[in-house]
Amino acid sequence: MSMRHGHASPQRRRLVLGAAALGLTSSPLPLLAQGVLLTPRQTEGPFYPPKLPADQDNDLISVKGASARAMGEITHLSGRILDARGRSLRSVRVEIWQCDANGRYLHPGDSAGVDRDPNFQGFGHYLTAEDGSYSFRTIRPVPYPGRTPHIHFKLRSREFPEFVTQMYISGHPQNASDMLLGSVRDPKARASLMANFQSIKGEGGAMEWTAQFDLVLGVTPPQA
Ligand SMILES: [Fe+2]
Repeated sequence: MSMRHGHASPQRRRLVLGAAALGLTSSPLPLLAQGVLLTPRQTEGPFYPPKLPADQDNDLISVKGASARAMGEITHLSGRILDARGRSLRSVRVEIWQCDANGRYLHPGDSAGVDRDPNFQGFGHYLTAEDGSYSFRTIRPVPYPGRTPHIHFKLRSREFPEFVTQMYISGHPQNASDMLLGSVRDPKARASLMANFQSIKGEGGAMEWTAQFDLVLGVTPPQA
């Protein structure tokens, strides 16, 4: 079913207002719209690259011009960006960034005291398809001091305010002691930040992972 211009129902208007509020505040409470659990926002943190890398495609384990691929366990990460009614959000710029296998970000301010893996892209982006889907090839996130493994997400679209959150590994033992994750108090909201990692046999029989992570936003999709 498609919505027409200029006929927003009061219900729909509320969702739009909710999206505007999302852009300005971060709520520790689960955000509900029509019984649907929206993906909680999380802080951007200090390590969004101040200068995006020349190679910023959706394959983070291979950097243009590098002789080897990134250290770490290859992960095929995919999912969909949806609105609260389950409709696809297309042409959303999905950005991810995460530390490399040594625990170091692509950021000059990261004083991790470990060498950066020059073969890890550290950042990538993807424009969602018609069905709201995105995909990345990256590494399975690793912990660094004070944090359980996570991948940062930033969504950009002309249709709604910037949306920033973090994704976690479902069942990871360090999740329980992570303060940022713990700040999402509602168990269901916390669960919505988890990706299910499943091992698969990759090239040459090496173990790789698939990870699935959908984001549900309190916004209305672009008009058809
Ligand atoms: Fe981080």
